[in-house]
Amino acid sequence: MTAQKRQILVTSALPYANGAIHLGHMVEHIQTDIWVRFQKMRGHDCHYVCADDTHGTPIMLKAEKDGVTPEALIERVHAEHLRDFTGFHIGYDNYYSTNSEENRHYAYDIYRKLKANGKIVSRTIEQLFDPEKQMFLPDRFVKGECPKCGAKDQYGDSCEVCGATYSPTELKNPYSAVSGATPVLRESEHFFFRLGECADFLREWTAGASTLADGRSQAHLQTESLNKMNEWIDGGLQDWDISRDAPYFGFEIPDAPGKYFYVWLDAPIGYMASFKNLCERSGLNFDDYFKADSTAELYHFIGKDILYFHA
Ligand code: 2FM
Ligand code: ZN
Repeated sequence: MTAQKRQILVTSALPYANGAIHLGHMVEHIQTDIWVRFQKMRGHDCHYVCADDTHGTPIMLKAEKDGVTPEALIERVHAEHLRDFTGFHIGYDNYYSTNSEENRHYAYDIYRKLKANGKIVSRTIEQLFDPEKQMFLPDRFVKGECPKCGAKDQYGDSCEVCGATYSPTELKNPYSAVSGATPVLRESEHFFFRLGECADFLREWTAGASTLADGRSQAHLQTESLNKMNEWIDGGLQDWDISRDAPYFGFEIPDAPGKYFYVWLDAPIGYMASFKNLCERSGLNFDDYFKADSTAELYHFIGKDILYFHA
């Protein structure tokens, strides 16, 4: 009896385009590569895609520091990442970029569908703003004294000395890690994904299973990931801020000039974009893998720190 041929799409987490590949990346991508080679040797249609994760404030600021455009930085880093990974014989079928037209297309498509379904809401929020650099500061770019233990030079989200977590507005004597200026509070309109409304759907889907082409049942999440997921859902899911103000290196939000998608909105969509690019080059059919009633399988190899974003 011949085994049923499966259609399998596999991904590794997308490395940020502002730094070198380190051992943590290498371990994850080698693990993925071993599994992919095994599935290919079994005769399945198995495709392995990855990409550089190219958007966000750290990449914008690194380019500025290096005196190059973000586009030039991400092009250089892409070549370096690919050199390092292929030096370890990682056999991607495609290693692409989230700063691609395919990714813009799917990010816009998904955003517009969420909006049409009432899942996007806008709210005005207050955030720390660097008056010298004229930019809002992400949590990691505000530093100051820990509100709990008083340790100096702590980041805006957590203290590395006592482990406390807090909001950047709670820091004592805050300063901008970009310019050194004292930040001020400023209002801005942000777009939120109504994640809280999706709790029931997420609880059901993450605990569920799908039937594979060969008839076996495959749980959507491994038990450890599911336990973590349920902790978050039970704790109550907050709506998710998916927008950032200019200056920002990323995709501008449709019909919202000066507002950009937060990097974590378009990064996971980058898996689809990389696969789409592979399909265009190789004659594979994208919809065979992503249409609603597809029996294809999609596996993400990720570290536990980024489980929340993927889920
Ligand atoms: O944590 C990180 O290094 C992210 N760049 C991973 C992104 S994976 C995917 F969602 F894009
Ligand atoms: Zn502290």
